[in-house]
Amino acid sequence: MAHTIVIFGASGDLTSRKLIPALFLLFKKDRLPEGSRIVGVSRSHFEHEEWRDALRTTTEKFAGKSFDAETWNRFSENVFYQAGDIKESSDFKKLGEFLSSIETEAHTGRVYYLSTMPQLYEEAIKQLGAAGLAEDSEGFRRVIIEKPFGTDLKTAQNLNRSIHTVFREDQIYRIDHYLGKETVQNIFALRFANSIFEPIWNRNYVDNIQITVAEEVVIGRRAGYYDTSGILRDMFQNHILQLMMITAMEPPARYDSALVRDEKVKVLHSVRRMSGSDFAMNTVRGQYKGYLQEEGVPQHSQTETFAALKLYCDNWRWKGVPFYLRSGKGMSCRTTQIVIQFKNVPHILFGEKTRSPLGNRLVIQVQPAEGIQLHFETKVPDSEMKTRTSTLDFSFRQAPGGTSMPDAYQRLLLDSMTGDASLFARSDEVELAWGIIDPIIEAWKSPAAPDLFPYEPGLWGPSEAGEWMRRQKREWFDVC
Ligand code: BG6
Repeated sequence: MAHTIVIFGASGDLTSRKLIPALFLLFKKDRLPEGSRIVGVSRSHFEHEEWRDALRTTTEKFAGKSFDAETWNRFSENVFYQAGDIKESSDFKKLGEFLSSIETEAHTGRVYYLSTMPQLYEEAIKQLGAAGLAEDSEGFRRVIIEKPFGTDLKTAQNLNRSIHTVFREDQIYRIDHYLGKETVQNIFALRFANSIFEPIWNRNYVDNIQITVAEEVVIGRRAGYYDTSGILRDMFQNHILQLMMITAMEPPARYDSALVRDEKVKVLHSVRRMSGSDFAMNTVRGQYKGYLQEEGVPQHSQTETFAALKLYCDNWRWKGVPFYLRSGKGMSCRTTQIVIQFKNVPHILFGEKTRSPLGNRLVIQVQPAEGIQLHFETKVPDSEMKTRTSTLDFSFRQAPGGTSMPDAYQRLLLDSMTGDASLFARSDEVELAWGIIDPIIEAWKSPAAPDLFPYEPGLWGPSEAGEWMRRQKREWFDVC
């Protein structure tokens, strides 16, 4: 079937930085379905040729060495532009006419990509419905929705409700770009294509799990969005809980979108909700020094740019194992990693060294050093019986034939065209995730909120986060 991808918000940054380069590279790899077309929609006026020229410049920049003029010329023949305002129903009528004029096949599938301001999602969906553009008798109609999906549980429920009046759940693809990362998908392979890890992947052998998403960057010019969002909405409700779900889930019976998502959702059901003094005991929040001086940040803003949470999954596999989730801006380096810290041996034979906090752990490096390391104790040669921590190191970039790490959007765009929703968030998943995060946001606004600790940019967040761990007789794995 031929495909048309309609991008609303065509003049935005995401379109030029991510979406078009991803579609171009898919085309270059011969992965885009035959006869795929791309139609950009936004308020500005462009001729098709003008838009293609602008995209050529940005694609050359963002696709880097993979860009070549010959492929671009063939690709861009199928790139079109249609001016339109999401608030104008007459523009949707014109869009429908334009799409019909270029879709000459009997059946064409369409993916509508909402890359607009989130405040426009509902309106865009309503207009698509009213103009008959969601009607799928002549080819599938799907909609991709960017994050943020709501700003709390209530707004997410309202958005789900209003999208469901136009699209069925199986037509809705809620993007979380972390799921498009190769290293995140590799967690499925690591856990479910090997039998060596799964038997010890549980409360009997695991002491704790740490999921860190650290960013060196600060908020820059994003104060307008960031100050109303804060790190819990920006990173935890979506990306970090996704990483936690995939780390903690049970194996699905088949790799199938319904079954995979059923298992992920069960993890969220099992997360113990915090109440009362839990918020002070199980959360740490911080704000980097200099945040209040960023352009557009209100003088006394209490928005957190760092958070650490301790969550528990009350189920048979994980009962009693803390999941430490941590993220911050202005940290010492950019790294996303999942650390599975195994329990100490039950009986120490070889001196205190065996207690090394570094040994006995599996580290999944999501980015930027994509790989996996297993740290374990070995004997120091030519010593009596001293041990030291050694590492088995797998690197994606150095693996034979596995050097290319495509951007997350390539995989997600392709899956939306082929109709595989496994790597997209389902309505219940998004709502349950808000149900975990909302009470923490509320508690942090209350008079009994834990302190907001200032921290120097370039460190691992506030020192209190380290002390908090040490009080629990644990250490963060702080390695760049
Ligand atoms: C986005 C957040 O969703 O993810 C940003 O809004 C954050 O604040 C970004 O910087 C991180 O994504 P990545 O892929 O660079 O880790």
